[in-house]
Amino acid sequence: MSTGVLGIRPNPRGRGSRLITINARRACDECTAYPLDARRLAGPIVARVQALRKSPVSEASPTVPAHTLHICVTCRPKGAPPEAVRDGRVLYEAVAALHADWPGRDQVALNGVECMSGCDRACTVALSGRGKPSYLFCDKAPTPETAAAALDLAAQYAASDTGVLMRGDRPGPFRSGILAKIPPGL
Ligand code: FES
Repeated sequence: MSTGVLGIRPNPRGRGSRLITINARRACDECTAYPLDARRLAGPIVARVQALRKSPVSEASPTVPAHTLHICVTCRPKGAPPEAVRDGRVLYEAVAALHADWPGRDQVALNGVECMSGCDRACTVALSGRGKPSYLFCDKAPTPETAAAALDLAAQYAASDTGVLMRGDRPGPFRSGILAKIPPGL
């Protein structure tokens, strides 16, 4: 009778891993500890696979946007009391109102975050995307103009193969105030 348990083995085609069945009896011949370790490690994998199989949306998951526009919702001007309405929240809600009907929303997700370590240069806005450099902008005013410009900038970023945003091409509110440009991951 089979005593197989689930495990993960590198894909021989060179990309990622694949789910396999480990023969516990054979592993036991090689190392008595192996089947126990394999079962312990396999637990979360089995739970994940079972959850995916049960999920009603697993076959029709919506496409995940390849880019994200991040806006800090906790940014406030220097000296503003903590209990005051946050400029970052104002900016985020202005962008969210536009993003709800924005044609590029399949390409760019909107993400409200609490702090991007640019607190002295509120408001902060960032862009990230697969295989593209990430940008962190600062000193953005919480105005309707900035909100519209943020989506224009995000559209440029999504349309660019490299993700590089040249200063002269960027919308007015984003031509200055870059805190960071981080290369894409390897
Ligand atoms: S509170 Fe906005 S960057 Fe820290």
